[in-house]
Amino acid sequence: DIYPVILSGGSGTRLWPLSRSMYPKQFIRFFSSQNGSFLSAALTRLRQASGFKAPILLCNNDHRFLIREEVERLGIDPLAIVLEPVARNTAPAIAVAALVALEASPKAILAVMPSDHVVKDDTLFADAVKRAADVAATGRLVLFGIKPTEPHTGYGYIKQGRPLAGFDGRAFTVESFAEKPDRATAEAYLAAGDRSWNSGIFVLNARTFLDEIERLHPEILHAARAALAGAKEDLGFLRLDKNGFAAAPNISVDYAVMEKTEAAAVLPLDVGWNDVGSWSSLWDIAPRDDVGNFVKGEAVLEDTSDCFIHSEKAIVSTIGVKDLVIVDTPDALLVADKSRTQDVSKIVQRLRQSN
Ligand code: GDD
Ligand code: MG
Repeated sequence: DIYPVILSGGSGTRLWPLSRSMYPKQFIRFFSSQNGSFLSAALTRLRQASGFKAPILLCNNDHRFLIREEVERLGIDPLAIVLEPVARNTAPAIAVAALVALEASPKAILAVMPSDHVVKDDTLFADAVKRAADVAATGRLVLFGIKPTEPHTGYGYIKQGRPLAGFDGRAFTVESFAEKPDRATAEAYLAAGDRSWNSGIFVLNARTFLDEIERLHPEILHAARAALAGAKEDLGFLRLDKNGFAAAPNISVDYAVMEKTEAAAVLPLDVGWNDVGSWSSLWDIAPRDDVGNFVKGEAVLEDTSDCFIHSEKAIVSTIGVKDLVIVDTPDALLVADKSRTQDVSKIVQRLRQSN
């Protein structure tokens, strides 16, 4: 029994000024109002019609009605929409999801997905998840390895080990996992050519995951149990107990479990994965014209190429520029070199300090 688990906790500050803390990127329809949000894409990727169980969603309390609107629009009836009273990162959230799923099925497998990723081929992806679930059923925590293209320091790096027996050379042990290495280390990994990026999508044997959490961070399991024991049903949401959940340390699953466990396995994944972490990665997947511009809103471009342009009111006009990101909203305008859009979070930080 595979339960999709959708994590919707981040605020996506690198996509400011469109992504805001009250309306973060997973809810935004970046390309057109017909296209869904990243969250709705995550929800439709593993539908019940193709053999998956009802999803478990975990989100920040502030976003509960945005989440509900999406699930209702898609006609999805989730197993639970869990509201986190405080943000504790992904390890405690996944521990709660594992407890909820085990309650429903003692052999539960979790397909943990971020709400802000893009996968080009949904059919291939669903097949990969099912294959990963077979591996997970043997007591494994399964990662997907993505072929790296740059020494990105915001990802986890996986070193693949030996092939696992019985999976046709498609699943491997994990020799080591390093979350968010520094630049020099990431460069060395890329040069060595023997690492893959962690996709951030996990297919977990729920029982194994909780056993590992208990062994490595018993305080997380304890907090997750207390949060659920004191949880209240509230208008169709499952509201975790605040004191119980707040006792969990703030730590991601990558640091808490994946760097330390012996139970990890990795499946190489080639489905057009993109983590949409910045304007430049959004440009990568955007529908562009023949000179590489993506334009939403009104714009007059002269001798302009490879730009990402979003305008809500004014007419944007550019002359003789290349590789720019221009995002104009009613109260903020961003103009950035496309190679520097990782730094947008610095602007957001400065704005927060000055407010
Ligand atoms: N419910 C909930 N609660 N969700 C959360 C929380 C939380 O407290 N914190 C983060 N999330 C969600 C985010 O919204 C996102 O969808 C997902 O969990 C991953 O969190 P990120 O904060 O975006 O992680 P990251 O990008 O730094 O790193 C992870 O993803 C990389 C690939 O994109 C790691 O798994 C890396 O190893 C990986 O390479
Ligand atoms: Mg991320």
